[in-house]
Amino acid sequence: MSDQLIQKEYNKKVKLINYYNKKYYNDNISEITDAEYDSLKKEIIDLEKKNKFLRSKDSPSKIIGYKPSKNFKKAKHKVPMLSLSNAFSEEDLLNFEKKILNFLSQNVNSSISYTAEPKIDGISASLTYLNGKLKSGLSRGDGKEGEDITSNLATIKDIPKNILSKDFPEEIDIRGEVFIKNSDFEILKEKFANPRNAASGSLRQKNSEDTKKIPLKFIAYTFGFQKGLKVNNQYDYLKKLNEWGFKTNPLNKLITGVDNLIKNYNEVEKKRTKLNFDIDGIVYKVNDFNLQKRLGYVANAPRWAIAHKFSSNKAVSEIIDIDIQIGRTGALTPVAKIKPINIGGVLVSNATLHNEDEINRKDIRVRDTVTVERAGDVIPHILSVDIKKRPKNSKKFIFPQICPSCGSKTIKEFNSITKKKDAVRRCSSEGYDCDKISIEKLKHFVSKEAFNIDGFGKKIVESFWKLNLIKFPQDIFKLDFKKIEKLDGWGQLSVENLKYSINEKKTISFERFIYALGIRHIGLENAKLLSKYFETFLKFKDLSKNDKFNDLMNIDGIGETQVNSLKNFFSNKMNLIVLDELGKILTINNAVIKRKKGLLNNKTFLVTGKLNGISRAEIKFLIEENSGTTVSSVSKKLNYLIVGDKPTKRKVLNAKELNIKIIDQVQFLKMLNKTS
Ligand code: IVH
Repeated sequence: MSDQLIQKEYNKKVKLINYYNKKYYNDNISEITDAEYDSLKKEIIDLEKKNKFLRSKDSPSKIIGYKPSKNFKKAKHKVPMLSLSNAFSEEDLLNFEKKILNFLSQNVNSSISYTAEPKIDGISASLTYLNGKLKSGLSRGDGKEGEDITSNLATIKDIPKNILSKDFPEEIDIRGEVFIKNSDFEILKEKFANPRNAASGSLRQKNSEDTKKIPLKFIAYTFGFQKGLKVNNQYDYLKKLNEWGFKTNPLNKLITGVDNLIKNYNEVEKKRTKLNFDIDGIVYKVNDFNLQKRLGYVANAPRWAIAHKFSSNKAVSEIIDIDIQIGRTGALTPVAKIKPINIGGVLVSNATLHNEDEINRKDIRVRDTVTVERAGDVIPHILSVDIKKRPKNSKKFIFPQICPSCGSKTIKEFNSITKKKDAVRRCSSEGYDCDKISIEKLKHFVSKEAFNIDGFGKKIVESFWKLNLIKFPQDIFKLDFKKIEKLDGWGQLSVENLKYSINEKKTISFERFIYALGIRHIGLENAKLLSKYFETFLKFKDLSKNDKFNDLMNIDGIGETQVNSLKNFFSNKMNLIVLDELGKILTINNAVIKRKKGLLNNKTFLVTGKLNGISRAEIKFLIEENSGTTVSSVSKKLNYLIVGDKPTKRKVLNAKELNIKIIDQVQFLKMLNKTS
């Protein structure tokens, strides 16, 4: 690249960073994340290092921040408020220490002690105390000159107004961070994009009565000008701050050696998401004030301190589109397609929007600028929308009223337990009528806990579906292998392998089979319960013929939701065909039921009311261990109703009407030859 082009590129970046500074300091708006800001700053400094001819009075290496806004009176800091250099890796830290040792002409093996102070992501402030009285409070501004925000700072409870301690310096600027706890941010979510903006915005209110309403916190960590400070290291200074009535970060530590700094860094990073305040790194400061003095400053940052940054797990991007994905049970899940962005080393281009209610609550729209978070292995999600950056002609996102796959109406079901409509909207078509649902059903059918067909994963399902090779589960067992052999990427051997693994799964346990059908609300546990109840596939298949759905309520663990779902499943003709076809092809083993003839063999029990010294779980265990069964309602099938304290009257009455034996806890234990 020619010098001219480099200069052009450099000017562009400097202009951009100054634009962000201005936005941040004047308008309280962070248009980019701290991580993005830091990397832009690094790019500029790196360009300067590589190309000595580059110079700009606006370079971030020259200025600390943007000039403060005109709304507040300005005041000079007696001692400038500096910034910190950043370290991103162990190598950066080793370099930092090497430079210190070089500067001090100390042996490379000498050890240096540092304070390690988690870096709270807030707004820094400088509080001037004269003879123990809070005189003024300034924002950082451009580092040399800040804004006088004394009355707003004075509303913060953590900031002492009068300090009586004898050893409190005659004059001192106590410096620290103003911030909002994440839990307190919840109520401010609507107004600000993140806790940092909320803290900054609250501090800059014209009327301090407005600031007072916001639960701002202050932690102290350094000082500016001082007269009469009698400590000689940072760790003791932090302790003194506490004695004088300031809050300090509870995670502050005194650490020797880079190895131990790294250990601490890793431990704190693990705790990071559990903390009630945002931290974006750890600040290391050479502990000894004498050494600090000797080390001094380079440009606008001390040589004796560094900020070891965490990799960011949040980033700002733009929504390009909102896709609707359809799941196996017909649930419509909105997914935001975003401009690809690197979050903590992973390129993210999709973020889940959860459901229709979530979109409405956050009023998320196409072309919105959003903050995306990626935590661990969870699918990235949208944290917040920057309403200020919304295009003028933006329109509210209308959730599809018809299924994008099959055109059926979409519905929100009424949840009889919560007595509310579901947050999730669903395709109203039943199963195989909707292509997208069918594909998802097939993926479930071959999945690990269902048929677990080796080498038959989600991708194969999609590709075979597109090629019209499969539409229903039974098609998997009737595949035209001659056709597959001719497909790209398939050969004789791979086809043989596939054939083998499919054949191998033609014999299956009854419970796996039920689970594989993918009936809504019938997971592994419920499939197991149903298989034990029906014992054979034939009895299960004939469920709809005999209309015995309500009897299923007697199975402990099966409730109204599951029964309704089974009714739905069996009312669909296609499902019945699938069952018939699979029945012809497969060998579905009967459920294995261990029938040892215990004391309660063939007896059914139901408990009502509170028992004495024995839990429901334990009594169920005792019944089943002795070959009895527990049921969930009073019916002719019930043999014993065990009554405890405050029983459900209706159950007792029903049992009496049906001549069912009513016993208490003592009588029950006697049946087991046990005394209570
Ligand atoms: S010391 C010369 N200590 O980080 C020392 N700063 O990039 C400068 N910060 O403006 C400050 N926690 O807003 C220091 N324990 C800590 C800090 C801390 C957060 C912020 C502060 C400062 C910025 C420097």
